Amino acid sequence: MNPNSFINIAIDGYSSCGKSTMAKALAKDIGFTYIDSGAMYRCVTLYFITKHIDLDNLDAIHQALNEIELDVHENQFLLNGNDVSAAIRSMQISQMVSKVSAIKAVRIKMVAIQQAIGNTKNVVMDGRDIGTTVFPAAQLKIFMTADPAVRAKRRFDEIQQKAEKVSLVEIAENLNMRDYEDTHRSESPLRQAEDAIVLDNTFLNPIEQLNFVKDLLSSRQLIAL
Ligand code: DC
Repeated sequence: MNPNSFINIAIDGYSSCGKSTMAKALAKDIGFTYIDSGAMYRCVTLYFITKHIDLDNLDAIHQALNEIELDVHENQFLLNGNDVSAAIRSMQISQMVSKVSAIKAVRIKMVAIQQAIGNTKNVVMDGRDIGTTVFPAAQLKIFMTADPAVRAKRRFDEIQQKAEKVSLVEIAENLNMRDYEDTHRSESPLRQAEDAIVLDNTFLNPIEQLNFVKDLLSSRQLIAL
């Protein structure tokens, strides 16, 4: 039973398997707030890169974390007042974010912010540890997965629309590396919560995925269809 009076929907899963697309569409459809927890780890990574923080220096990490103020909106991320929504999607950030998100002090700060948001409104939050650590009592937990080649191709198509030029091989390697690091770290590794429902979307379109989750919410009487 969720101790707070708001509905928390947790969407976890591997990198680039469509979590944010599905979570965003779901939140819009049912009138909840969408929170992209991965973007928060990306903001911290950007700050650490900008300040040349040595990831082995715990004092420097704590100091940097104290300097960070995050303002999280559905589609906009302010890092100490600056809009970094586009900057956090670069390949440089993708390459370092798994290392930064494995640091305990970083996770403690991000989880506290995420829980504070979920305690004040109905949210759909996506990430890696939402159902296991952030909202262990979430009313619905989805664990998303898809074929790795399909995930790499989807991410490739998405990046093609931006200025950054990255090959399909580089993307596949980055996804592979992040999945490995996210599932093998000691702090809140990515794993399926026992009470999570698996959604493999390899062969599903966005509407089918949305309907799958809405049917679950309706069967738990969390929404009326
Ligand atoms: O969802 P994303 O790919 O933008 O997330 C970026 C990284 O952040 C991902 O490789 C792992 C980390 N992350 C995490 O450790 N915990 C979360 N709840 C969300 C993301």
